[in-house]
Amino acid sequence: MFVTEQQNLRNEINRLIEPHDTSSRSSLIPILTQIQKEYSYISEHAMLIVADVLDIPPVEVYGVASFYSFLDQKPKGKFIIRLCKTISCDMQGKDRIAHQLKNDLGIDFGETTPDGKFTLEWANCLGMCDKGPAMLVNDLVFTSVTPEKIYDILESCRSVVNNASDCCY
Ligand code: FES
Repeated sequence: MFVTEQQNLRNEINRLIEPHDTSSRSSLIPILTQIQKEYSYISEHAMLIVADVLDIPPVEVYGVASFYSFLDQKPKGKFIIRLCKTISCDMQGKDRIAHQLKNDLGIDFGETTPDGKFTLEWANCLGMCDKGPAMLVNDLVFTSVTPEKIYDILESCRSVVNNASDCCY
């Protein structure tokens, strides 16, 4: 990262940190959540800046960022697909859905497509156990998913990306 980029990032993160109490460690999670919201992940450089501002060891920031599953250290796709892997969905055929997703996207779980459009992840129970298999596409829940429905869901995501700058999910 160039010096000017580093300075810009520092300025931007300082702006995000400003409303928080930097004298308290309890601000760490709200600050990281804010950075995540803004950038969709928390880069190593961002963690160093946060450590510097809060005057705490970088390893502490990394420890928190890597502990919480809602905080990401790597950029993710525009659409994050989370398939429930818990027992009810497992018994209702989540493996067939997982296979279809991997096949259609050409990636495994924990990966992002090279074009940056899709990330595939496992999720724990989504509270839709009687309508499994269930999955999330960003914040939208899909229930009773079948391999046939996967094609339509992915196509509608692709058309959103192709036709608009904002996504509807
Ligand atoms: Fe999948 Fe509950 S087990 S939604």
